[in-house]
Amino acid sequence: MSWLDDSVNALSLLGAVVILILTVLIAGKYIKQMRDDTASGELAEENWDGIGEYKNDVPIGWSLSILALMIWAAWYMLAGYPVNAYSQLGEWNEDTQAHNAKFESKWANADEETLTAMGESIFLVQCAPCHGTTAEGMGGKAQNLVEWGHEDGIINTVVNGSKGLNYPLGEMPAGMLDAESAKAVASYIMAEISEKKSTKNPELVESGKALFVTCAGCHGEDGMGMAGMAPDLSKYGTTAFASEVLDKGKKGHIGMMPSFKGRLSNIQYEAVGTYILSIGN
Ligand code: HEC
Ligand code: HEC
Repeated sequence: MSWLDDSVNALSLLGAVVILILTVLIAGKYIKQMRDDTASGELAEENWDGIGEYKNDVPIGWSLSILALMIWAAWYMLAGYPVNAYSQLGEWNEDTQAHNAKFESKWANADEETLTAMGESIFLVQCAPCHGTTAEGMGGKAQNLVEWGHEDGIINTVVNGSKGLNYPLGEMPAGMLDAESAKAVASYIMAEISEKKSTKNPELVESGKALFVTCAGCHGEDGMGMAGMAPDLSKYGTTAFASEVLDKGKKGHIGMMPSFKGRLSNIQYEAVGTYILSIGN
């Protein structure tokens, strides 16, 4: 029989048979003893409502079997089945890894249109339950992704603050500038700092640049986040920033966004990031 060729299977089966035989023999012996014998020996001190206990040693057979079982369990865990032999779980893991690798290489050079389409379907399944099918955040239950990653998202952040991405500087406080000044700073960031290099309001860039001193203390003069102390704003509006959020998750002011680490692949991060950044302006 082919499944007996596996030494681990054969040994386990042998073990099971031995245990079964021992159980029957020992149980039989004690049942017989209970019928025939009258107990004897030295009584222990304790007595519970007239029920006493004899000072008998632990049966040697019992001690030896528990020792043997412990040795066998250690062998089984360390050298036997899980590490060396075939397992269904192992095969499933290998299949999944192979499939994922195929998926990643198939879409490695996907163009923007493909990524957007893939991202939309991911969004509808994974993100829409919280962000809504229109991505507007379902009346404040989650971040409005039509704004996020664009100038309105920056204005929103400056007015309402932000937390939960676990930067060394911690939270960004709310109300640092009024909405008008925030709008100017947002256009400066999008025009000059973000890789997007484009703004809806080019006329505000100059005044926004002057106001950026409020931000430079944490985000740095160049807005690049002072080597990881605060977010790098040159990434604001790019899929790199979106992927970071997906990877970390965010326990913020609005609520809790779960991490998608291990649930979505790098290509899927890229796709869903491309999609959400394509819907706003
Ligand atoms: C006290 C330090 C500090 C100052 C000052 C500050 N920020 Fe921030 N900023 C942070 C930190 C920390 C985060 C990350 C917050 C988080 O974990 O969500 C952040 C995040 C952001 C984000 C990303 C928000 C998101 O959606 O994840 C933007 C955009 C931003 N800041 C813009 C600004 C602008 C514009 C100013 C100036 C008006 C400014 N910040 C001033 C510390 C600061
Ligand atoms: C369980 C609900 C939930 C799910 C599912 C969810 N989000 Fe979120 N998301 C939130 C909440 C709540 C926030 C606001 C966090 C905060 O308070 O800043 C948020 C914030 C965000 C932000 C803004 C982060 C920032 O730095 O301000 C992005 C981008 C985002 N989500 C993208 C996604 C994408 C893409 C998906 C699907 C792959 C997704 N979310 C799935 C609840 C969710």
